[in-house]
Amino acid sequence: MDHPSLQDISWDEFDEHRDPRPADNGFDQVVERAVSRRGFLSGILAFGSGAAVFGSGVLGSSTSARAQSAGFPFEPIGISTDSDIHVPAGYQWKTLVRWGDPLFSDAANSYSADTGVSLEKSDRVFGENTDGMELFEIEGKEVLVVNSEYANPKINLPAASEGTPRTADEVSLLKNIQGVTVMEIAQDADGYKPVIDSPLNRRITHETQMTIDGPAAGSDLLKTNADPAGLSPKGTMNNCGSGRTLWGTYLTCEENFNGYFGATGSYEVTDGLARYGIGGKSRYAYEKFDDRFDLSTEPNEPNRHGWVTEIDPTNPNSTPVKHTALGRFKHENAEMVTAKDGRVVVYMGDDERGEFIYKYISNDVWVEGGPTQNLLSEGTLYVARFNDDQSGDWLALTPETTGMSVNDILVFSRLAGSKVGATTMDRPEWIAANPLRCEAYCALTNNKNRGVKPNAGGDATPVGGPNPRETNKFGQIVRWRPMSEDHGSDRFTWDLYVMAGNPTAYNNIYAGSENITEGNMFNSPDGMAFDTTGMLWIQTDGNDSNEGDFEGQGNNQMLVGNPETGEIARFLTAPKGAEVTGLCWSLDRKVAFVGIQHPG
Ligand code: FEO
Ligand code: CA
Ligand code: CA
Repeated sequence: MDHPSLQDISWDEFDEHRDPRPADNGFDQVVERAVSRRGFLSGILAFGSGAAVFGSGVLGSSTSARAQSAGFPFEPIGISTDSDIHVPAGYQWKTLVRWGDPLFSDAANSYSADTGVSLEKSDRVFGENTDGMELFEIEGKEVLVVNSEYANPKINLPAASEGTPRTADEVSLLKNIQGVTVMEIAQDADGYKPVIDSPLNRRITHETQMTIDGPAAGSDLLKTNADPAGLSPKGTMNNCGSGRTLWGTYLTCEENFNGYFGATGSYEVTDGLARYGIGGKSRYAYEKFDDRFDLSTEPNEPNRHGWVTEIDPTNPNSTPVKHTALGRFKHENAEMVTAKDGRVVVYMGDDERGEFIYKYISNDVWVEGGPTQNLLSEGTLYVARFNDDQSGDWLALTPETTGMSVNDILVFSRLAGSKVGATTMDRPEWIAANPLRCEAYCALTNNKNRGVKPNAGGDATPVGGPNPRETNKFGQIVRWRPMSEDHGSDRFTWDLYVMAGNPTAYNNIYAGSENITEGNMFNSPDGMAFDTTGMLWIQTDGNDSNEGDFEGQGNNQMLVGNPETGEIARFLTAPKGAEVTGLCWSLDRKVAFVGIQHPG
């Protein structure tokens, strides 16, 4: 099947295009099925005893218990449907930086709406489609590191009417405006701005030289014609969520890397390629101009992407490192905490329908000021199984448990997760760990295939557990508490912090959990971060039609949730068409930096 314009569809739709599914279920059928299971579902919603899936304060005794007010130090705002940004009274927003803004004075005024950015300046400006970001203090300076997830070719290449690059130069331009930006920022009378020409400013693109470490580095699976040692990959791609290490470096997470590879000739369709949706036509036609992206000449190049990549923002000449020990999948973000004994723990979601949640634990312990070079290269990768009784297990991915080699486990982690019976989830997006309590939250954004068809590996996606709704269009946030309050434990208990929904349109499970009201409705939770006071900030990337099931939800938004009471309040609304991505705070905590991706 061909598609007229792969550039115009979401990454999620792109995956569906690669993995055709049965025709959509009619609205009536969906409702009928939900109602027909009412006995089971209302057991969760109304009583929550044996199936106490929801946390304390989250579950009321009836729909009338839906709280209308939230105990937050701001007046929650209503929905918006316009093309502006809105925040509560007493707060204001300003633009920090936009795609095409210069990081260096030689790139000043290099963007125009008619022509985009010139190739020569395309890696000297702030990248497009901002996503995960973190702020670092480096020698008293504030340095923001920001992902640029993907490109809109029709905007960047106005001359290419179909949005598909026609020349190698046009491909190079797209490669340059994606990746990662490191930039010093500083305040003047008008707020924060990038510090042009700061020696710390840096662009990392699809061409930046990287290195790779961990058990799979140098394995046959990573060798290419250009890099026969399998140790020197180039580029980091589709940089979605972020993370930060305890030792002050940035983690960029490679998500929908599959869409960058195509084939100009024949190639072997392996289980590995199929499970990751790699093959056929690429999104940006890189393969036509660069053999590196052509499966028929470099079948192993995709194996060099889909990793968590570490960037040292203190040294603009440092070589980013891809960490094979953390597994290869469509990484959303990387949330680092420590186990009780000081080992490093990294929680990670794999954002695709029916894929898994992972955890990495280092062999060595982290000691402040001590060596860190092995902490993300020597350890064990686990995958989560959520049991229906609200217990859960972290299943180690080892040759013994999977029957796979270590190299295969790390490069094809999805296949390994399937072997041990991991729980297929409703698209795991960001994971955030509560700084005040030993627990972690994962946004399960939505999954129209839940209960409808298996994942790309053929694993069943039954309705139940932390994924309780068929054709889940609203999403939910699952949280887990590790046994013995130790992130190093391989056991946990779980509940749902919130199940998004529409209590105006539904009075069944699609209404959402009791902490969803007419006043705070949203769909498709995605970005999440805790602030230092233990409040959970939730950003959405969903249906902003404000129609049908989504009526009353308006544009994408950012809300804040109280983990103790379950209360959730809307703090920010984005322009129509935009997704809210990335969140971090200034050193004085007075300013929040929020990404507005693909505005309007
Ligand atoms: Fe790039 Fe899953 O969001
Ligand atoms: Ca996301
Ligand atoms: Ca998303």
